[in-house]
Amino acid sequence: METVTVTLKINNETTTLQVKPNETLLETLRERLDLTGAKESCGMGACGACTVEVNGMPLRSCIALTAEMDGAEINTIEGLGEEKKLHPLQESFMEEGAVQCGFCTSGMIMTAKTLLDRNAAPTKEEIIKALSSNVCRCTGYKKIVTAVEQAATK
Ligand code: FES
Ligand code: FES
Repeated sequence: METVTVTLKINNETTTLQVKPNETLLETLRERLDLTGAKESCGMGACGACTVEVNGMPLRSCIALTAEMDGAEINTIEGLGEEKKLHPLQESFMEEGAVQCGFCTSGMIMTAKTLLDRNAAPTKEEIIKALSSNVCRCTGYKKIVTAVEQAATK
């Protein structure tokens, strides 16, 4: 199969890759770049576990083709905070107990990050709407919404 050359800025580092036309962004991140924070759950764009930020918006990386991403700026959970200085969302998710199994967490946080970047003081309804298509099987969502509200105050 022919390959396509793409240059991506991922977590502020520019990288050029040869990718197959059918390679998903999730495969590129997890299998080629060892960025395993984004998770594969449904694999069909329905659950949000694979969400990363692309050009300022949340994107389900399991149904996005890397070959179509040339020039994109991509942020993943790995680029969000540092071990000694977490992002406010990471802090709040821990403080509020919004992480249980953790499978949905990076997608939730990346979705919430793009919301807070666009709207620094969202209402609870705006948070619920922004996260409405990210699925969590563990927390019941209340703690996640509270964590985003708390992060917005930091
Ligand atoms: S794994 Fe991508 S949306 Fe579910
Ligand atoms: S913490 Fe387990 S799926 Fe959300």
